[in-house]
Amino acid sequence: DWSTERAAQVIAEHRHLEGATMPILHALQETFGFVPDPAVPMIAETLNLSRAEVYGVLTFYHDFRREPPGRLVVKLCAAEACQAMGGKALAAYAEEKLGVDMGETSTDGRVTLEPIYCLGLCACAPSALVDGRLVGRLDREVIDDIAHCVAN
Ligand code: FES
Repeated sequence: DWSTERAAQVIAEHRHLEGATMPILHALQETFGFVPDPAVPMIAETLNLSRAEVYGVLTFYHDFRREPPGRLVVKLCAAEACQAMGGKALAAYAEEKLGVDMGETSTDGRVTLEPIYCLGLCACAPSALVDGRLVGRLDREVIDDIAHCVAN
């Protein structure tokens, strides 16, 4: 769980780095799994920036999460090679099976489903990143397995 104290500590540890906004945001996300909104004014104050500047960086990069993620994070590749191998239909299947829309976390907090853009595993398309692990040749069966894990 995130706390102001821990966030302040993380910010202090990275404030001296060149272009510290990005390193701080990354470190916060690594520490808490997301970047809590209250950290924005803290960063702004520390780096002598406006809140809008920090907020702009935070929202520009889709890698930054602003809500706590679900216990399992499933990222489906939405880039070209995977799309050509049926990625879109699989994504729709995953939404249905996991009961969550792309880009969302389920209300019970069990799973987050997100698009990602090329995992470098195009030869084994369609690909996914499940709980940080690369999965190639994704098919309905694999998604069924994931849904089974999420439900139990
Ligand atoms: Fe999906 Fe490269 S396009 S892994």
